[in-house]
Amino acid sequence: MHKSPRPADSTQAMRCYIILITMIRDRAGAQGNAVEVGDLTLALGGRAVLAGVSFTIAANEFVGVLGPNGAGKTTLMRALLGLLRPARGSIAILGAPVAFGNPAVGYMPQFRTAASGMRLRGWDFVAGAVAGHRWGLPLLGHADRAEVARVLALVDATALARRPLRDLSGGERQRLLLAQALLGRPKLLLLDEPLMSLDPHHQHAVVALVRDLQRELGIAVLFSAHELNPLLGALDRVLYLGGGHAALGAVDEVITGPVLSRLYGSEIDVIRLAGRIFVMSRGQAMERDHHGHADHEHV
Ligand SMILES: Nc1ncnc2c1ncn2[C@@H]1O[C@H](COP(=O)(O)OP(=O)(O)OP(=O)(O)O)[C@@H](O)[C@H]1O
Ligand SMILES: [Mg+2]
Repeated sequence: MHKSPRPADSTQAMRCYIILITMIRDRAGAQGNAVEVGDLTLALGGRAVLAGVSFTIAANEFVGVLGPNGAGKTTLMRALLGLLRPARGSIAILGAPVAFGNPAVGYMPQFRTAASGMRLRGWDFVAGAVAGHRWGLPLLGHADRAEVARVLALVDATALARRPLRDLSGGERQRLLLAQALLGRPKLLLLDEPLMSLDPHHQHAVVALVRDLQRELGIAVLFSAHELNPLLGALDRVLYLGGGHAALGAVDEVITGPVLSRLYGSEIDVIRLAGRIFVMSRGQAMERDHHGHADHEHV
């Protein structure tokens, strides 16, 4: 027969449970935040791109950075990397003041050096970033080679990496760029427009890959994009930039007519259609990708 637990046993069980919950909570607290921005003003050419912006991103969040051309998405990422000094305010990355060259931050820039004509193999391209010099072909030690193999496996590009870059499609090169950004096990990943110039099928594949990696590695990801729709369902929260301001929250909280109208200081309509969301200003979709692709080339 099954014995019912004595009161002392259940008290003991309750105590263990409380200790366990406290440990889990403390562990989450110890992880801290990935990004803390306070009253931040970023200026370029004497003009404020962002003015008095404050927000906090937790250690294991997947945040989409949205906003039209010129909203300040790239400028914000450059500031989080320590490449641009704030005109005012503070930035803390993983609990420490922002500092250029922080190995805990991985970055995939929006504008990538032309390499499509290169005979360089994918492996060498990724390996070139290990030692910090992107295009050199360093002789790597065992640990570095293992690190290259690790990041290539993470993005499922081990076979791809044997081929020359010039023979790879845009989407395949994008995976190698993601592998580069994952070198050194960053805890915060800044991905600037990883979907640019990919067709919808490949856009969804990149979003799913980043989402899976973000969960598996338990890291924070800031993922900028022009269009919200490919990211719907994958994001924890969205950081919408516009008119020098920022709004951070769940998609349903931020992508609304009243919130975006307040952000821009003009009337914005949000239209939901067949599971997709369109942000409209004066009858025009605001998030359309206006980038010409001829003026710069992707790797
Ligand atoms: N070096 C610079 N000097 C002056 N202004 C600059 C400089 N670099 C960027 N800007 C301006 O800062 C603003 C923000 O640019 P940023 O590149 O951050 O926008 P973005 O949101 O990334 O746009 P996109 O969607 O086109 O990539 C733009 O108005 C841009 O023209
Ligand atoms: Mg940009």
